[in-house]
Amino acid sequence: MLGDATVTRFGYGAMQLAGPGVMGPPTDRDGALAVLREAVDAGITHIDTSAAYGPDVTNELIREALHPYPDRVYIATKVGARRDAQGGWPTARRPEDLREQVHQNLRSLGVETLDLVNLRMGDAAGPQPGSLAAALETLADLQQDGLIRYLGVSNVTADQVAEARSIVAIVCVQNMYNLAHRHDDDLIDRLADDDIAYVPYFPLGGFTPLQSETLTRVATRVGAAPLPVALAWLLRRAPNILLIPGTSSAVHLRENIAGAGLSLSDEDVADLDGIAR
Ligand SMILES: NC(=O)c1ccc[n+]([C@@H]2O[C@H](COP(=O)([O-])OP(=O)(O)OC[C@H]3O[C@@H](n4cnc5c(N)ncnc54)[C@H](OP(=O)(O)O)[C@@H]3O)[C@@H](O)[C@H]2O)c1
Repeated sequence: MLGDATVTRFGYGAMQLAGPGVMGPPTDRDGALAVLREAVDAGITHIDTSAAYGPDVTNELIREALHPYPDRVYIATKVGARRDAQGGWPTARRPEDLREQVHQNLRSLGVETLDLVNLRMGDAAGPQPGSLAAALETLADLQQDGLIRYLGVSNVTADQVAEARSIVAIVCVQNMYNLAHRHDDDLIDRLADDDIAYVPYFPLGGFTPLQSETLTRVATRVGAAPLPVALAWLLRRAPNILLIPGTSSAVHLRENIAGAGLSLSDEDVADLDGIAR
C-alpha cells in the first residue's frame, strides 16, 4: 500500500530510461516507450520517476507512453535536487526550489495532482544528518493546496524519518537497499510494524548491478537468472517492501517480473543473507 492506494508490490523504476548519466534522451527511444507500455500492460501499477531524470526526459517518456494514465497506475516522483550542465545533482531544497520542482513534475507528467512526491535528502554519498522540517513543510503546504496526494521521504536517516512523521503523514521511505547493502534492516522492520512502505532504490545494485557467486549459485539452484533472484529475496525480506527495479530492456523486464514469482526456500534465503555479512 501507498497510503490508502493499493499498488502492485512489483513496480518499475524509470531513471535509467534517460540517456547516459541520466542526462538527455534515451539511445533507443522507441524501446524505452515500449518497455513502459509493456510494464503497465503486464499489470504494474507503481512507476517511479523524477523531473531530474534527463531532466524531464523520463517524465516525458512516461507521459507519451501512458497518458491518459489508467486510474490504477500511481506515479511516484521526487524533489530535492536539480541537474547542472555537467550532469551533477546539486541540492535544491529551498521552498522556492521545491515549489518549482513540483510544478515542473506536474507539467512534464501532464497531471493536475502528483500521486506521490518523495522529498530527497542527503547527497550522492547517502543520507546526511540534519533537519528536513523546512523542506517537508513546504511540500505539506503544496499537498494542502491539492497538488500532491501522498508524501514520502528518500535518502534519509531513521531520525529524519521520525522527524518527517511528526510533521505530516508519510506513506513511504525510499532509500538505497539491496542484498549487499543492508544498512536499513532495522528501519525496514520498524516501518513494517507501522504499515509504511519501504521502497529500496538500486534494488539490483544500480549503475553497477549486483554480482556475487552466492547469488549465481542460488539462481542456478532455483532455475532463474541472478538478478531476478535478488528481487525475489527483497519481496521475501519484509511485507512492506515495494520494488521499483529499473531496466531499459523488455527481456530483463519479463525476467524480473518472473523473478517476483519465485519462491525461495529457507536455505536459499539463508545463503543470500550471507552475502552482506
Ligand atoms: N531516491 C533516490 O535517490 C534514487 C536514486 C536512484 C534511483 N532511484 C530510483 O530507483 C529505481 C531503480 O534504480 P536503478 O534503475 O538505478 O537501479 P537498479 O534497479 O538497481 O538496476 C538497474 C540496472 O540493472 C540492470 N538490469 C535490470 N534487470 C536486469 C536483469 N534481469 N539482468 C541483468 N541486468 C538487469 C539494468 O540494465 P538494463 O537496462 O540493461 O536492463 C540497469 O543497469 C530508479 O529507476 C529510480 O526511479 C531513486
